[in-house]
Amino acid sequence: MTPKKILVTGGAGFIGRNMIRGMLRDGYTVSSLDNFKIGGSRHIPGDIRDHVEWVEGDTRDLDALLPLVKGKDAVIHLAAPSSFLMYEEDPVEGASVTTHGLLNVLESMRRNDIGKLVYASTSAVYEGNPVPYVEEMELIPPDLKALSKKWNEEAARQYSQRYGMTAIGLRPFSVYGHDEFSKGGYANIISLFAWAMLEGLKPVVWGDGNQTRDFIYVEDAGRAFQTALERDLPTQEFNVGTGVETTFNEVLSMIGDELGRQVEPEYVGVPIAIYAERLWADTARAVDVLGFRHEIDVREGVRRVVGAARRAQDTQRWSELPNAQMYFETLPGD
Ligand SMILES: NC(=O)c1ccc[n+]([C@@H]2O[C@H](COP(=O)([O-])OP(=O)(O)OC[C@H]3O[C@@H](n4cnc5c(N)ncnc54)[C@H](O)[C@@H]3O)[C@@H](O)[C@H]2O)c1
Repeated sequence: MTPKKILVTGGAGFIGRNMIRGMLRDGYTVSSLDNFKIGGSRHIPGDIRDHVEWVEGDTRDLDALLPLVKGKDAVIHLAAPSSFLMYEEDPVEGASVTTHGLLNVLESMRRNDIGKLVYASTSAVYEGNPVPYVEEMELIPPDLKALSKKWNEEAARQYSQRYGMTAIGLRPFSVYGHDEFSKGGYANIISLFAWAMLEGLKPVVWGDGNQTRDFIYVEDAGRAFQTALERDLPTQEFNVGTGVETTFNEVLSMIGDELGRQVEPEYVGVPIAIYAERLWADTARAVDVLGFRHEIDVREGVRRVVGAARRAQDTQRWSELPNAQMYFETLPGD
């Protein structure tokens, strides 16, 4: 039987709200626990706002989780910092939310006898390995974000083995999409570049622009979580990517095509010690075992991001986004 009553943690977030839209369409009853720290509840789209039970609270609060988990068929756990910058700025908060939050989810499920968890890990767990990244690779986390998510995977496997629950860990690659405004300066590089170029600002590229990411559109990423919820599979992890690498220079050129004018970026040295040159998913396990394949390619995705930014331009001041100054130069006069 398909699980129908679902608790989503971090449901108001970028992936969460796009995933929930699809779940509502398919008849799920959804509750969300979110502390609304990233962007706030005002980013919940009107079409899903009144159809979800929104509870404000922190996943580190077991007493908040326990009554919410009770009576659910499954849990999708998304609440965690999504950008490496968040961990750089506050490592204690980043690691605390990621580890303590997941542990509380597992524990509240065990106490309520809930058998299925789908949770967000990250492609960052692979860093240091050669690309493309394959699920079987040994994980040697280079930073706190990757380490915390790897710990999530190990804790989920342990609960799965000891208490007979199924825990599917998804490792999203570089998730981007049309409504990422809630993240401000923590948004995906496609959004940051598009927002900058739309406003006539100069994108700042770390390195030579030949670094790559496996960009996956947010609606595809959301669908991967729903698919993992619905498939009857044993505990394991899956890549959520497209299997296609795209360089930053290619992204800039695609945005330029959409805008009808190319912009020469400013290339600067990489300002942080640990920085991935290439992120690229091997998607064989996701396609063959999970039955998930992306539908939106990066050119179509860029078109949607630029279109949405154009529509939002009157209400957004891109040059004032916190942290975004690392990614684009505010030109004199702006
Ligand atoms: N976006 C990506 O590119 C990407 C890539 C890999 C992994 N992931 C993972 O996917 C998940 C969702 O990412 P996203 O892009 O939707 O991020 P997001 O920041 O848009 O959403 C996360 C949501 O969780 C909430 N939240 C954060 N800490 C919380 C806490 N302690 N208690 C309750 N709510 C809390 C936030 O307010 C936000 O609404 C995260 O776990 C992230 O690490 C994202």
